[in-house]
Amino acid sequence: MKKRILTGITTTGTPHIGNYLGAIKPALDLAGPDNDSFFFLADSHALIKQTDPKLIEKSVKNVALAWLSSGLNPDQSFFYRQSDIPEVYELTWILNCSAAKGLLNRAHAYKSNTADNLKLNNDEDKGINMGLFSYPILMAADILIFNATHVPVGPDQAQHMEMTRDIAGKFNNTYSSLLTIPEAIIQNEISVPGIDGRKMSKSYNNIIPFLSTEKELQKSIAKIVTNSLEPGEQKDFKNCTLFQLYSFFASSEQISAMKKAYSDGIGWGEVKKELFKIINNEILPLREKYLELNNQPDLLNDLFSDGARKVRPQAQELVSKLREAVGISKIV
Ligand code: TRP
Repeated sequence: MKKRILTGITTTGTPHIGNYLGAIKPALDLAGPDNDSFFFLADSHALIKQTDPKLIEKSVKNVALAWLSSGLNPDQSFFYRQSDIPEVYELTWILNCSAAKGLLNRAHAYKSNTADNLKLNNDEDKGINMGLFSYPILMAADILIFNATHVPVGPDQAQHMEMTRDIAGKFNNTYSSLLTIPEAIIQNEISVPGIDGRKMSKSYNNIIPFLSTEKELQKSIAKIVTNSLEPGEQKDFKNCTLFQLYSFFASSEQISAMKKAYSDGIGWGEVKKELFKIINNEILPLREKYLELNNQPDLLNDLFSDGARKVRPQAQELVSKLREAVGISKIV
């Protein structure tokens, strides 16, 4: 049977090299012709943490364009916006009534917030909205509404996948087996270092943006922290941010040559030049595509309505079966 791959893309912030290497590329690699693939923008999830409507809109745009520029082909994959499929919210409520509250009390995002509050001697629920608490149910609805069989996610989402299976199983047992129990495909966490050597993350302010201009790319690379060894002095490629970043983009021959250059005493300026070249080479066609798409004002709205038009009938069909199963349907 054909696999049905589905994954949600959180629409927060500006995509960086870490997102590109860790999430975008591996997900698109799974979207071959042998599988059905569903990629959607999880814009309702973004409301949990962001209350500025302008930023919500900007993120959806940036993230959508980043995926499209990186090779997501809307003719080969279903590409849509969560909020354009209202059946997701109807299913969310039905699942709310199957999900045990105790299960959600154990969700790690919620637990880490309550733990922080307790550490500060605050009420444990201070500043926590119901969106954060019930986030895993909305995620379960995203997945179950389209009968996904395989869901590629990072290791941080493994618990949410277990919850999805648990909640769907509970529904199936209570009513009838209408929900497909999905499998998680847990992608290896690849740790891409940022310009200060810590994990690349918006919250550390250490990102290398990936759809920036050449100049901006050059500038971020120039800022990468190195030690003070001079050109001609032997260098260690282990634990070196420049070398790690280089390895993500280089062939194995290029990596061996760079190791040798390190032991021969290549200067840091030279390594940075090579790093810029190799990233820029990979990014160049993506950047061009991005600029081209960014100049078409109706493109995203058209794609979103097209995407919703293609997938919504399936959601409607499932919801009508679910309504019947729970007894909210035509009175006979
Ligand atoms: N919670 C996921 C994340 O933060 C995003 C997401 C929302 C998702 N709904 C989903 C992923 C459904 C897979 C399937 O990465």
